[in-house]
This record gives sequence, structure tokens and C-alpha cells, in this order.
Amino acid sequence: MPPLPLPGFRDFYPDEFSLRTHLFGTWRAVATRYGFQEYDGPPLEPLELYTAKSGEEIVTQLYNFTDKGGREVALRPEMTPTLARMVAARANGLRKPIRWFSIPQLYRYERQQRGRLREHFQLNCDLIGEPGPIGDAEIIALAVDAVRAFGLGPSDFRVRVSDRRVLSELLAGLGLDRAQVAVAYQVLDKFGRAPREVSVGRLRDAAVGPDAIGRLLTLSGVRTWDAFREAAAGLGDAVGAAEPLRRTLAALEAMGLAEFVDLDLTIVRGLAYYTGTVFELFDARGELRAICGGGRYDNLLQALGGVDLPALGFGLGDVVLTELLRDRGLVPGDQSAIDVFLAGIGEEDASEVLALAHELRDAGLRVEYALSPQPLGKQLRLADARNARLAVVLGPDERARGELVVKDLAAKTQSAVRRDAVGAWLLEALRG
Ligand code: HAM
Repeated sequence: MPPLPLPGFRDFYPDEFSLRTHLFGTWRAVATRYGFQEYDGPPLEPLELYTAKSGEEIVTQLYNFTDKGGREVALRPEMTPTLARMVAARANGLRKPIRWFSIPQLYRYERQQRGRLREHFQLNCDLIGEPGPIGDAEIIALAVDAVRAFGLGPSDFRVRVSDRRVLSELLAGLGLDRAQVAVAYQVLDKFGRAPREVSVGRLRDAAVGPDAIGRLLTLSGVRTWDAFREAAAGLGDAVGAAEPLRRTLAALEAMGLAEFVDLDLTIVRGLAYYTGTVFELFDARGELRAICGGGRYDNLLQALGGVDLPALGFGLGDVVLTELLRDRGLVPGDQSAIDVFLAGIGEEDASEVLALAHELRDAGLRVEYALSPQPLGKQLRLADARNARLAVVLGPDERARGELVVKDLAAKTQSAVRRDAVGAWLLEALRG
């Protein structure tokens, strides 16, 4: 037996590849509608690119090794550091704001579980050079549209939005020190998944007082602007720090997307470089892991390339989105079905089959025929198996009349068509 694929790595048989083509095609169409341009970088990068800024969680998941030249390298676990490096290297020559997207395959040595593999694809869309809150709304709207485009609505998925600037103001207002802030972020991040006693216990263990714990619990339940103002009252200038967030949410409302969006202060995000707005998309039933995550990272280009440019973006993964599409019956049928199957009755029809196949392929049709002589019934079964819409039968009697027979395999009808007009006839029939 040959070795199996490594755990967490996928073989893409044509059925799965057809879905992947559908995902990528839809993502490309949505991103380009927003004026985004596609780019790519190397799948293997210097290890240091990630150890510098991505944060502990992703660094422990790296596929890294020493290459034959003695360099410490890693397979890319995410795209953002590569993007930051690429933009910083040419920052002066690029027109701002930069709107770029990419669909990289990424590698993380994670414990394999539902929705988590060791390789996945991510649509990455990033907007660089725009500090204002409408930029944040633009990126969140693009993430929503890149999921909506598959036929999913507000009862299928939600985007939960928060802001690191607001969180840090709130936690400072509660009097938490640096170590307690780090614990509070972790507790907030796990809030929806961990039992309440566990969250409270972790805060108590970090010596966070009962009043502060009570207020954190209230803040974690906030979903509306009014509730936020009430829960944040007296905590530093949290309401002032939330002004960009308020404007981002208002812009999303103006775009008609408010029904997809929830204010949610438990969204923290694991990556270390986020500085402002942070958001995640989840299935509305809360059964799956995050579909997408992103936010503002205004200091990363400075840290990696010495260029002071604000930036924000998101990564939308293929694994959880595929689970949601399967669950909702939104996976389209085989995209590789052919248009026309050509069948010859006798051996003397074979060269005419070859000539017509080539003619029709030149005209842009998807065409197949049996590669070795076979009875007509078997050829038509092959046509069915390939989901061909039409079959063309070439036989001696029709050839004598300058005709051939076209069968509509679904409608089970057939027509005699003149050989010299068959190309145009088929194109017309397939359009209908
Ligand atoms: P992330 O939250 O690490 O963000 O990943 C984004 C999305 O990729 C997740 O919500 C999830 O759907 C998918 N994903 C992540 N890891 C895996 C995995 N092991 N298996 C399957 N799917 C996975 C980032 O990567 C940021 N760099 C996104 C970003 C771009 N922020 C700004 N620009």
C-alpha cells in the first residue's frame, strides 16, 4: 500500500476540486467587484517573519525546518506578514489605498478537529493606507458579501464586531494591570465556548475583583449601542474610543448590511498584531468554528518594513464555509459536466466523429466521445454518466442524407439536423 496523505491534508478528487473552483471563482468575482487586485507570495518564508509579530498561538503551530542552505524557514501559516512585507518593500510606488486580495494555501500544525485541518485555503482581502472607519466598513462588507454570494443569508451567518481600542480602554477603566488584561482577553475570547464558572474562576485566579468581574460579565452580553453606552459608563473614555466603531457600524447600516452585524465585545482575535476593529464571521446556529476573522493592524507594516501605513483585512477559510454550504444544501452539482457526447454507429463513422469533435471544441463546446469502438447503447450510457446534455449520433443512413441525429438526453427527444449546420444548432440548443 502506498503511504496515505498526512493527517490534516486533503486529496482533491474532481468532485472536491469542482467545489474548490466554485469557491475561488465566487470569491474572485466578489473581490474584483470591490476593486481588489489579486497578488501572491512564496509559500515558504523565513521563520522570523512569523516569530516577530504573529503571536504565540500561530508560532507554536508552524511547519518549520532548516533548509539545505542552513536557513530557518516556515511554510506560511497566514498571509498577512507576507503581504505586509511585500507592500512595505514598494510602499512609495503603490497608489493608496491599496486593495489587494489573494487565495493562498496555508499550513498550520494544529490538532486536527472539525473545521480545523493542517492545510487550508483562505481568501485574504486587505486595504492598506486608509485609517478611517469607512475603510473598516468596506472590509467587513466585503467579508459579508464573500459569504452571501453563495446564497447564505442573515439567518445562516453573522458577523461579530469589536474594537481592541475600546477593549483596552474598558479594561484599563476597570483597573486591571497588564497581566490581568492578558487574562481578561483570553477569557473574553473563550466566553461563548467556556462555561461561565470557568471564565469567572480564571478571572478570580488572576486576582480580578468581584466588581470588575461583574462589569465584564455585563459587557460581554452587550449587543446594542445603547446597552454598550450604559455598560461602559465611567470606564475611562471607552465611549469616546468607540467612536470609530460606531461610525463603522453606521456605515454598514447605510449599506443595508445591518441585519448581518452584531456588536460583540467578546471578539478579541488571537493574532498579536491587531490594533483596532476586530471581527469574526460565525454560522448563526453557533455550531461551527469561525468562518472568517480579521481586523485592523496599523503597526505591522512599520514593524516588518519600517513603513508607517494603516492596514486592515480578513482571512476567510474554505473548510468551515464548505461545512456550512453542505449543511444548507448549497453545494452546486458537478461543474465539469460536458455539453455534447458524440457517438458513431459503425467503424466507418469514426473519422467523422473525430472531425466533428474537433470542430465543436474549436467552437468552445465541451465534447467527449468513446475512444475505442463500442456498441451505440454503451456509448449513450457513457454520455449519461458524464451528464452530457446532448448526444449526437452519426450513422451511415444519416450520412448519406447529409444529416445526423441530436438527442436531448434529459428531455428524451431527438431531431435530425443537417451536418453543415450542426455547430450553430448545438450552440443554440445549449443556450436554451
Ligand atoms: P485567522 O483567524 O487565523 O486569521 O484565520 C482566518 C480563518 O481561516 C479562520 O476564521 C478559519 O475559518 C480559517 N482557518 C484558520 N486556521 C485554520 C485551519 N487550521 N483549518 C481550517 N481553517 C482554518 C488570519 O489568518 C489572519 N491573517 C487574517 C487577516 C488577514 N487579518 C488581516 N488580514
